[in-house]
Amino acid sequence: MISPNLAKSLSSLPLALIKVFTWDKSFKNNPIIGNRLLNRFGLHIARMAISHLFFNFRLYLLAPLAKAEQRRHFRRHGYLKIENFLPPERFAQLKTEIEQFDGEIREETEGSTITQRLYLTESALADLPQCKAFCTDSKLLKLLRYTSSKNRIPFFHLENIVHHASKSKQADPQKDFHTDTFHPCVKAWLYVDDVSDRNGPFIVVPGSHRLTWKRIKWEYRQSLIASQGKTERPKGRYWDGSFRVTERDAEELDYGPPVAMKVPANTLLVANVHAIHRRGDATPGATRMTVWMQARDNPFNPLFSPFPQLTARVFEFVWKEYMAKRTAMQVKRGAWRTVTGGFSTRSLSAEISPIGAQQKNPANDS
Ligand SMILES: [Fe+2]
Repeated sequence: MISPNLAKSLSSLPLALIKVFTWDKSFKNNPIIGNRLLNRFGLHIARMAISHLFFNFRLYLLAPLAKAEQRRHFRRHGYLKIENFLPPERFAQLKTEIEQFDGEIREETEGSTITQRLYLTESALADLPQCKAFCTDSKLLKLLRYTSSKNRIPFFHLENIVHHASKSKQADPQKDFHTDTFHPCVKAWLYVDDVSDRNGPFIVVPGSHRLTWKRIKWEYRQSLIASQGKTERPKGRYWDGSFRVTERDAEELDYGPPVAMKVPANTLLVANVHAIHRRGDATPGATRMTVWMQARDNPFNPLFSPFPQLTARVFEFVWKEYMAKRTAMQVKRGAWRTVTGGFSTRSLSAEISPIGAQQKNPANDS
């Protein structure tokens, strides 16, 4: 007679196996990805190496979308930074539109930080003409289609980070050095505010998106620790595949010093978040507004979509449904909330009331 627990574990295996060939990264939730024996034989390293190979192959195919200088910088350093991205007048109009937005937004907690977001779907953009002009800007889309390596048009969000606004006693997990996931993938930000030490710049270790022998050995060791049993894993780390990087790890990996992206407003930053990075420290109450972009896709498909517009519509349809369900669930748990009245775009102290309950599994990769 099979126990109900064993039957449940066995029935979840086929889906877990399929997910090995997707972007799934959780050592905790996927019994195959988190299997110690398979990782001892190099499962994690194989997934990482294959995804890197395909990423670089797709970048090569998509080369006509970016200038040679941009391609070289992105491949070498893992990021691109373009100041004065929009003409000044267009940027001023975009900033005003965002600051005057007074509709419904979502608030999420990550330790002490509150992240305010608005997903810029086609219907949201209908009322935001300046945002729509930015999200359909051909110069921007070409660059993101290349750097995604997938010919992907990303998801766009307005995102406002409010530092130390939650009453959680936990620190913001994004402020520890980490890699988002095992495969190369891209996030981008158009900074609406000037970024300084006051409001938490993006900090990245240039070149740390590249696989070196030291990195491969480190990832191998991490995969073995992550696939230990629940009770054996050291506490206080994330075992969902976003490995945290200690100071000692950073020294051992030997990529060089990190760089804080202290940039003026109207700077576009595109970064491969397989690189080692973190959110910078900030003054309590300080805010940082951006248009935030993300284009994650199956790393094991060696090809890219030949129809970026159609693919973007399909992704939006699926993601909108998924996020609606997830938001409803998190709001019910008290971890997220929806509020009207737009973003808190000024530094604040008591302007925002904290969300009470904390997430058990806060987002781990942004
Ligand atoms: Fe991250």
